[in-house]
Amino acid sequence: MRFVLLAVLSGFGAQAQPADANYDEAKVPKYVLPDPLVMEGGEPVKDAGSWRDRRRPEILRLFETQVYGRSPGRPKQMSFELTSIERGALSGSAVRKEVSVFFSDKKDGPRMDILLYLPARAARPVPLFLGLNFNGNQAVHPEPGIGISKQWMRDNPAQGVTGHRATEKSRGSEAGRWQVDKILARGYGLATVYYGDLDPDFDDGFQNGVHPLFYKPGQTRPAADEWGSIGAWAWGLSRALDYLETDLDVDSRRVAVMGHSRLGKTALWAGAQDSRFALVISNDSGEGGAALSRRKFGETVQRINTAFPHWFCGNYKKFNDNEDALPVDQHMLLALIAPRPVYVASAAEDLWADPRGEFLSALNADPVYRLLGTDGLAASQMPPLHQPVMSTIGYHIRAGKHDVTGYDWDRFLDFADRHLRGRPR
Ligand code: GCU
Repeated sequence: MRFVLLAVLSGFGAQAQPADANYDEAKVPKYVLPDPLVMEGGEPVKDAGSWRDRRRPEILRLFETQVYGRSPGRPKQMSFELTSIERGALSGSAVRKEVSVFFSDKKDGPRMDILLYLPARAARPVPLFLGLNFNGNQAVHPEPGIGISKQWMRDNPAQGVTGHRATEKSRGSEAGRWQVDKILARGYGLATVYYGDLDPDFDDGFQNGVHPLFYKPGQTRPAADEWGSIGAWAWGLSRALDYLETDLDVDSRRVAVMGHSRLGKTALWAGAQDSRFALVISNDSGEGGAALSRRKFGETVQRINTAFPHWFCGNYKKFNDNEDALPVDQHMLLALIAPRPVYVASAAEDLWADPRGEFLSALNADPVYRLLGTDGLAASQMPPLHQPVMSTIGYHIRAGKHDVTGYDWDRFLDFADRHLRGRPR
């Protein structure tokens, strides 16, 4: 019993889902969402200019100081090093590269390793999907040439992670979630990084990972309005994009940032802050991602802050069981991405992530997308299973569980074809 409790509190039970969570629509409290098109002082936002210059910065500041925490910019000393290149990867259909990104001038300091797959025969530069992975780059594809992550990892003996380190057995363990062959066949590249390179996913008071690189003299942990782990992971996505801007094989103006679950929350936050991301995809991101916080269906703010106290900033704890006091809700996170295309994917059995709440965020971001001259979300009701909506805000719900599947990737690729392909470089 004691072990179970500790496991839940420390977040080691990745699905820390208490039995008393609400899954009954009738028990969702009445709520009023903050209006993305009304300034904090009450003034309506009537045109694209006042959205861009006044309301958007206001909302961004609120997410920075109250939800995910403020992040630093690009470190001055950052450098890139190509550590491997295989021109005949995947039986000649791909070029595979590995690149190390050093965040300071110390080669033994925190760094992240990017794995890139590029379609061998596509015209350069290629559009690309960028996403963080859960189990190390070697888990994304079974090819033996990929370096095995040496970082701390949550134990999972069945998937080849023991003693908090990945082993040979972990190769390809996450391949189903990445669908490398499908992505390449459609003419896109893939870049991925192990999220633990940025900050290992456990609550250590922010002693490991990238946070300490930015402490002021005497500082020992981030202030209440400074970044937590999601902030650090999102920051890593922007640093990966810094690298991609230097890679002549990649069209850095057509990079889609994608993530699943906690890394879907991360992809949304990265896309909201960094407008260089041309397209943003959230897969089953749930609470603190696409799902509306005020709905209290499945996971709640109190629950996520308890099971994962390191994910959000200190200030976010003020909203435990107090969602109505939030100056924002998650539809405004999607609105920060406007007018760039954003895709929200849900899974029918993933009630913990609140599929309806994910859809309603997309729906409530629509007025901002329309104000900016796009077609917004071309649906006023939640669509049935497997009937994707492909407007500038995209959405689907598929059958099945919390996961990333071939069906999801087919839709992400369709969405990218529609919204990235025709773009001038
Ligand atoms: C837990 C957590 C979710 C998160 C998920 C994941 O279930 O409660 O918020 O999205 O883990 O990242 O797999």
